[in-house]
Amino acid sequence: MRCSFLENNTDKKKVIFSGIQPSGNLTLGNYLGAIKNWVSLQDQYDCYYCVVDLHAITVKQQPKDLRSRTLEVLAIYIASGIAPDKNTLFIQSHVPAHSEASWLLNCSTYMGELSRMTQFKDKSKKFGESIGVGLFTYPILMASDILLYNTDLVPVGQDQKQHLELARDLAARFNSTYSDTFTIPDPYIAKVGAKIMDLQDPTKKMSKSEENPNSYILIMDPPEVIRKKISRAVTDSIGVVNYTDEQPGVKNLINIICAIKNTTPEEVVQSYLGKGYADLKKDTAEIIIEELAPVQERVKSLLSDKKYLEEIYKNGALKANYVANKTLRKMQKKIGLIPR
Ligand code: TYM
Repeated sequence: MRCSFLENNTDKKKVIFSGIQPSGNLTLGNYLGAIKNWVSLQDQYDCYYCVVDLHAITVKQQPKDLRSRTLEVLAIYIASGIAPDKNTLFIQSHVPAHSEASWLLNCSTYMGELSRMTQFKDKSKKFGESIGVGLFTYPILMASDILLYNTDLVPVGQDQKQHLELARDLAARFNSTYSDTFTIPDPYIAKVGAKIMDLQDPTKKMSKSEENPNSYILIMDPPEVIRKKISRAVTDSIGVVNYTDEQPGVKNLINIICAIKNTTPEEVVQSYLGKGYADLKKDTAEIIIEELAPVQERVKSLLSDKKYLEEIYKNGALKANYVANKTLRKMQKKIGLIPR
């Protein structure tokens, strides 16, 4: 069989890699901080969008749920507008080079640099001594994901910036130890939407692992649930719609509107002169519903056609394996492992 991606190697577009863990149901934070930007970048770049299932197992998963969420995440990518024929969509565990490269990079990573990762520090407070080793070394797997594709740009939310800096450091270290191998990737963090906050505590990031469901909006939440959650969003007692750090709850709702409507905070504040939080909340809910409803409909129909999804992730893995293996072989050779 002749693979179309092999015929396409004169195409010199810059490379994008990004991924989302199927570790819980995806939130509006994942959508606005990552997926929506991926859609806008797909024409200019050669994009690899991965469902990072190996990252999800750093915490305990029910096998059945992991399987169904992995497919749902893939369906969400496509339903949000990421075209399977323009991009490489695949499942991380279908490309064994990610795990292999991760071990190779493990051997040149310092305990100190992993211990400084704020996500690890936060999680270890929760788990104490019984925190999984995978949660400690996970940024190395993320670096491997990125570096195997000679990625130029990584579109992520603000919370991944530190992990990306580690990927850059590991790439530079390998290059200087063995000779030029990896492209040094740059983060792409959009101005709005990069940090959507928790609706119940707007000083922390909206997260799919939060216990209280009123803290987040899920991409698949039905309209009435979105209305209820937004109406319960914590604001303040100032009562005037302003875009300031003193009003983090209101600021968060304005950011959500800006990320969806592609407008500025100043324009939003201007349109609420003389109006209160009830109006702001009502409109925010409707704007979210309008954005997510077509995505939800397409997700449901994609999930009813598992054959189609299978064709996409298998084709994606074919190309991803080809590119990733080429980089992995280079790494192995430079380190001194005997070629297979
Ligand atoms: P994950 O699965 O936690 O989140 C996926 C993407 O969603 C963004 N995000 C947010 N953006 C704005 N506001 C929020 N509240 C919010 N919550 C999440 C994240 O920044 C991310 O872009 N380690 C990564 C997954 C990963 C990856 C990679 C990313 C693995 N390998 C290689 C890029 C490149 C993670 O746990 O993301």
